[in-house]
Formats: sequence, C-alpha cells, structure tokens
Amino acid sequence: MKYGRVFPPFSFCCIFDGMKLMIINGPNLNLLGKREPEVYGSVTFEEYFEQLKNKFPDVELEYYQSNIEGELIGKIQEVGFQYDGIILNAAAYTHTSVGMGDAVKAVETPVVEVHISNTHQREEYRHVSYISSGAKGVILGFGLQSYDLAIQSFLN
Ligand code: DQA
Repeated sequence: MKYGRVFPPFSFCCIFDGMKLMIINGPNLNLLGKREPEVYGSVTFEEYFEQLKNKFPDVELEYYQSNIEGELIGKIQEVGFQYDGIILNAAAYTHTSVGMGDAVKAVETPVVEVHISNTHQREEYRHVSYISSGAKGVILGFGLQSYDLAIQSFLN
C-alpha cells in the first residue's frame, strides 16, 4: 500500500512505502528466451525483470511464474487484497480459463492484462480472453515492453 504509519515511539512522522506491484506469468513463460524466439524474443524474463527493477527503483516489484492453473489462481487470491496492482500474463490460460477470469474479478487489486505478442494477429483461438472483462486494461503486442507499459499505467 502507498502509505504506512510508523507507530510510537516514532509516531511523529510517516514513511513512504512505494507502490507494490506483482507480475504473474502463466504457463511456458518460464521458457522465454528459448521458446519461439521469433515470437517472444531471445531475452529471458529473469534478465528483463532486472531491467524493470533498475528502471523503476521506487516501485516494489515482485515476480511469480507457474505452469499450473490452480497455483496462478492461488497467487491472484493471495496478493489480490494486499498489493496495489497485478500485471498478469496468463499465457495460454488467457484463452481457456474461466477460473482465472473469475479470480481477476474476485480480488480488489486492479489487474492489467499483458501479452508479449499481438494475440489478435495470431490464431483465432488466441482472440478470446477470459481475463479482459475483469481487467483494468489490456496491453499487448509490444514485446516485453508490454510489462513496462503496464507498470507505467499504475504510476500515471
Ligand atoms: C502470450 C500469448 C498467448 O496466446 C500464448 O499462449 C502465450 C503468451 C503472449 O504473451 O503473447 O503463452 O500470452
């Protein structure tokens, strides 16, 4: 949360906590850098995450990845009443998971849906998203920069 109060004996002042954002990546995104580089690029998410942390030093950024639908839903529920924002790339579950869509709607924390590729230029089954209707906004097609733009959307 944005502001935290310091209790006595330090109650004379307040501390600034910074914004807390969680990036959640779904299935196969652990293979970024190796997986279909012509679509997803050749940088691993771990490398890119370091760049993001350096670019936004005042943002408390965390990153979670799972290939398992229930674990992703569990993480959305866990952080969805505590963090200031969730940046969610549900990957293939975007197009199949009613459960993930419901989780996005169930939590208080705003969720920005991101995709690396422009899913609307790809196969028709990728044109459907179970996430979008519950999301604050959707950013897609900018490569890994989609995550950067999503962070900026929370700062503006
Ligand atoms: C993706 C697009 C999805 O269709 C695909 O299943 C992914 C990645 C993207 O970031 O472009 O795994 O979410």
